[in-house]
This record gives sequence, structure tokens and C-alpha cells, in this order.
Amino acid sequence: MTPRWMHSFWWVLIIWASTTHAMPPPPPVQCNETGCILSNSYGAWGDRIDCHVPDVTYPTTEQDLRLAVAHANQNNLKIKVVSKFSHTIPKLACPSATQSGNALLISTEKFNSNIEIDVANLAVTADAGVPLRQLIDRVEEANLSLVAAPYWEGVSIGGLISTGAHGSSWWGKGGAVHDHVIGLSLIVPAKQSEGYAKVIRIEAQDPLLAAAKVSLGLLGVISKVKLSLEKRFKRSITYNFTDDAHIEDLFMDHAKKFEFADITWYPSRNKAVYRYDNRVPLNTPGDGVFDFLGFQSNSILVSKATRATEKAFETARNVNGKCTMASSFVGFKKSIANGLKSNGLIFTGYPVVGRQGKMQTSGSCLYSPPSRIDSSCAWDPRINGLFFYESTAIFPAKKFGDFIRDVKKLRDLIKPENFCGIDIYNGILIRFIKASQAYLGQAEDSVIIDFNYYRADDASTPRLNQDVWEEIEQMAFFKYGAKPHWAKNRNSAFLKVNQKYPNFNKFLAVKKQLDPQNVFSSEWSDEILFGKEGGKSDGCGLEGQCICSEDRHCSPSKGYLCKPGVVYNEARVCRYSSSSSILVV
Ligand SMILES: Cc1cc2nc3c(=O)[nH]c(=O)nc-3n(C[C@H](O)[C@H](O)[C@H](O)COP(=O)(O)OP(=O)(O)OC[C@H]3O[C@@H](n4cnc5c(N)ncnc54)[C@H](O)[C@@H]3O)c2cc1C
Ligand SMILES: *[C@@H]1O[C@H](CO)[C@@H](O)[C@H](O)[C@H]1NC(C)=O
Ligand SMILES: *[C@@H]1O[C@H](CO)[C@@H](O)[C@H](O)[C@H]1NC(C)=O
Ligand SMILES: *[C@@H]1O[C@H](CO)[C@@H](O)[C@H](O)[C@H]1NC(C)=O
Repeated sequence: MTPRWMHSFWWVLIIWASTTHAMPPPPPVQCNETGCILSNSYGAWGDRIDCHVPDVTYPTTEQDLRLAVAHANQNNLKIKVVSKFSHTIPKLACPSATQSGNALLISTEKFNSNIEIDVANLAVTADAGVPLRQLIDRVEEANLSLVAAPYWEGVSIGGLISTGAHGSSWWGKGGAVHDHVIGLSLIVPAKQSEGYAKVIRIEAQDPLLAAAKVSLGLLGVISKVKLSLEKRFKRSITYNFTDDAHIEDLFMDHAKKFEFADITWYPSRNKAVYRYDNRVPLNTPGDGVFDFLGFQSNSILVSKATRATEKAFETARNVNGKCTMASSFVGFKKSIANGLKSNGLIFTGYPVVGRQGKMQTSGSCLYSPPSRIDSSCAWDPRINGLFFYESTAIFPAKKFGDFIRDVKKLRDLIKPENFCGIDIYNGILIRFIKASQAYLGQAEDSVIIDFNYYRADDASTPRLNQDVWEEIEQMAFFKYGAKPHWAKNRNSAFLKVNQKYPNFNKFLAVKKQLDPQNVFSSEWSDEILFGKEGGKSDGCGLEGQCICSEDRHCSPSKGYLCKPGVVYNEARVCRYSSSSSILVV
């Protein structure tokens, strides 16, 4: 039984939350006399081992960047680059697993001053450290628009293209930002006679661009990025909260019919939310803003209360409690249209019309008047707020319908309540990416899903229904050959990822040409790039460090054993069995 008061409890908390102001995220690099520690924005790397860095530098100009690379190359130091945001989940930006002192971290935090707009040629060239929001605002001031962007604006231009970040579109050049890149400057190691480092300018027609557009920081330091733009435009958005029948048959038409289509699927609620989102003429009235609810600032008390409640339901194995949370959250999102604001303030009805620069991407929790520090992004690591995993799988469009059918089959077999855990977050967000030339991009029109779920504070604590999320992941990555988003996922999603990219070897050939000494690689980035399976220690299945093959990879003492999937029998998942714990001494 779930208490009825909880519904109103959540509503009050959430409404209160949206009236406060945010504390900005902590800087990702923290140093003292003994060295520095690099973290990601969630305050965690895959295996909770800190990333120690002997030294960090903050260049402000391209020339400084070149000198930093030269210094490192001359002194045989490994190099990694990280942005001001460090919003990537895998440990790609971490230079070394050891504290041996042979590495240099370059931050682009202060390399952010140049944004040059070429109105005649509809293009913008920006320093790699420029924040996405700053770029968009400047472009819109010039009466132009950037067509593609991830939904979250707290990223740098260099960082976002490096991991293949995307919004959603099968139209035009498509939803991935790197497919709008028409030039790029890269700083790579060079011979002594060339000063140990050189800048190479890669133009639109240069074959190197296919490797450099999505390069995970492995080819060199990106100093400048040139993006194509269009004349400024407006969009009109309507969300249709409806049932989830026939998503598997409707998704293609939906993506073809709406330029910025997406679908949010809440499997436990049997609901799907179709985003009807197209351009409209500039003179269409409306000054709307999309301030996505999940990226608004949350009262720190609310984030803590939400976390504490979810944790209590986890500990008590209370599926219905989780369903109450999911149902309140989905209801609340419907009532506020996910954060669409009709005239920049509140939602007053569909459609919401606004400028591209205000409708594509958001992140209001990033900004703070210095006087108000009672709220933050919900996942801020300093507040014991939300802590979750984010799985993201990219499917060839033609295989996606069957995947949906399998997930529905699983849901109906094990009962929809067991899917509530993801519906507390954003359900399954379905977006679209067009075929790309990028070697580490998608070779064909694709569908990409995201789902978030509870992560325990402690790596050795199993999670409620983790077998369900593991089965969906393994179905996606192994049965349907989906690829993991480079900036998200747990390590097990990357197994054999290199074999899934038809141009993988072309990427490696360019790497060999530009970075023959592997200055820009580390054991951490190799683990991701080559999809290596790590050592299988006790409990490795709990945090997605491995796919279990023995019970000890789960948590036998807490009743979690390694079992086959329900729909995808080849899957191996950590499943709770109430009788098992008595059998274990
Ligand atoms: C809340 C949230 C929402 C998100 N939403 C989306 C979304 O809607 N769509 C999506 O696709 N992604 C999304 N992401 C993922 C995000 O877009 C990527 O993680 C992105 O790469 C982060 O950019 P960053 O500037 O923080 O890069 P970082 O994390 O700092 O770096 C990313 C990678 O790029 C390398 N790198 C960074 N700068 C340079 C440079 N100048 N030269 C060479 N290499 C460099 C780093 O070494 C690292 O390998 C989201 C992430 C979060 C936390
Ligand atoms: C600072 O110093 C302490 C011990 O002196 C160490 O444990 C810590 O990791 C150091 N680094 C940072 C960034 O705090
Ligand atoms: C942008 O367009 C508006 C209205 O059409 C105009 O007033 C303004 O001068 C333009 N700005 C620039 C920088 O061209
Ligand atoms: C919402 O989608 C349903 C189909 O699931 C359709 O019948 C209905 O007309 C749509 N509503 C709007 C407002 O388009």
C-alpha cells in the first residue's frame, strides 16, 4: 500500500523547488599541494576510483594550448583534455590510473573568448572551451540559429562534439551536432624541428574531418570548431501524452513528420508522450522557452528528500512505493508540459512557440545569483541528492521496432510495476540521429534511447529490479547490436564496441598518423574504445563493471544470484531470489 498523502507531498515539494535559485556545479578539478583530483559532474567515475592528476593547466589562447602540448610532448607526458563541465560519464578524460606523475591535464575552462560569426556564409567558429549556451546566445543575436544541440546546455563546444552529442532529428543534417561541423583545428604532437606541437586546420573537404569530428579526445586538442548555421527560426511544440500502443509501428512516421520529433515512453504507466515539434514562420506569435524540468534547479531539501525516499523504497524492496513516485512525477510533468513555458514564465497551453535558441536546449540549474545557495542541479555531488545510472543505446532504425516489442513482452511477463524505477526519472527517451560520415558516428539512420535508474551510494549494494535494467541493456547492446553513447553508460555496455563501427580501423589509422606515440590515450580511454572486459571481481555485476557469469559477480549474501534473462535468455543478470539468501552461509 502506498499512502495517498504522498501524491500531494511530491507536488508540493516540486512546486516549491521551482521557486528557488541554484548553486552552480562544483569545478571538476580540485587541487592541493599533493596534486589534483578530476571528477565528473555526478561526482563519480565508473568504479569510484578517483582520477588523480599530477598537474593541470588552464590555457587561454590557441598559442598557450600549443605550448602546453609541446611541453608535454617534449617531457614524455601523457595528455588529456577536460572542459569546465566534465559532464561525461565514462572515464575518458582521466589521464592515468597511477599517480606516477607522467601526465598533464589541459582544462579548456578559460579557453572560451572567441566566437566569430560569418553571417554571409552562415557559420560560426568558436574556441573549444566556449559553453554551448554562450555560443547559442551569440548566434541568435546575429539573427541566426544552430539547428542541432543536446538537450542539456551545460557542455563545451569541444567536449560535446568529441563524444557525438546529439538532440533529435532525421531532417536536414540531422540531430547530431558533429554533423554540423564544417571545420576544426587540432593541436597534435610534432617533431622537435616543428616545436614539439603543431596546429592543423581541417576544412570541410578534408578527409581527416571524418575522424576528427567525433574523436573522444584521442587525436589531439581541439582548439577551434566551425559549425554551420541557418537563418534564425522559431519552433512550435506540443506534447501528446497518450497511450503506448503501437510505438513500435509509429516511431518512423513520427520522426519523418516532425523535424524535432522525440518520444518519451513510460512503460510502467503504459504511456507514451509524442513530441510534435516543427519550425514555424518567424512572425508566428509566441516567446516560449523550454526549461526542461529535469534540468531546473531543485531545492536541496527536495533533492535530498527524493533521494531518501527512493533509497527507503529500495531498502524495503517496495515496488509500489516506487510506482507512487513514478505516477506523481509523470502527472506533474504532464501538468507543466515538461517545463515548456509559454511566455517564458509559465505553461498556459499548447502549442508553445518560441525561438530555436530558447527551445532546443536548457539547463537553468547551472546559473545562480550568488546570494541564493539553497538549490542546485538535482545530482550535485555535494548534497546527497539524486544518484543514478544513465544507459544510452543507439539502434539502426530498422531493428528498433523489434527491440520495443521485446521490452513490452518483458514488461508484461514480469508485470509493469517492476518498470517503475525508470519512470521516476525520464522513462525511456527515444530520439533520432541521421546517418553520418563520422568514423565514430552512426553510419545509418538511427534511433537512440536513454533511461536512468537508481544507483546505490555504495557499490556493493544491489538495486531493486536491477535484473530488469540489465536485461534491457544486454538486449539492446548484444541482441540488437546497439552501440553505447560514448559519453554515457556503464563499462559493460562497451564490450566489443570497436567491432560495431565499420570505420573503426580508419579512425585508428588517423590516430596513428596524428598521435603515433599515443600521447592522448590512457588505460581508461583504451578500456572504453576497445571495449575490453575487465577482471571479474566479486560483485562486479552490481555496478555494470562486468556481465555476471557466476553468482559471486552479484551479491549472494544479499540474495542476488546470476540468472538468465526472462525474454532474452542469453542475458546474464543479477536477480533477487527470496529463498537464495538462506542457502548462503
Ligand atoms: C545532465 C546531462 C544531460 C545530457 N544530455 C545529453 C543529450 O541530450 N544528448 C547528448 O548527446 N548528450 C547528453 N549528455 C552528455 C554530454 O553531451 C556529453 O557528456 C558531452 O561530451 C559533455 O561535454 P563536456 O564539455 O562536459 O565534455 P567533457 O566531459 O569535459 O569531455 C568529453 C570528452 O571530450 C574530450 N574533450 C573535451 N574537450 C576537448 C578538446 N577541446 N579537445 C579534445 N578533446 C576534448 C575529453 O577528453 C573527453 O574525452 C548529457 C550529460 C548530462 C550530465
Ligand atoms: C589533498 O591532500 C590529501 C592528503 O594530504 C589527499 O588525501 C587528497 O587526495 C589531496 N588532494 C585533493 C585534491 O584533495
Ligand atoms: C535582427 O533582426 C531584427 C528584426 O528583423 C533587426 O531589428 C536587427 O537589427 C537584426 N540584428 C542583426 C544583428 O542583424
Ligand atoms: C494524440 O495521439 C493519439 C494517438 O495515440 C491520437 O489519437 C490523438 O489524436 C493525438 N492528439 C493530438 C492532440 O494530436
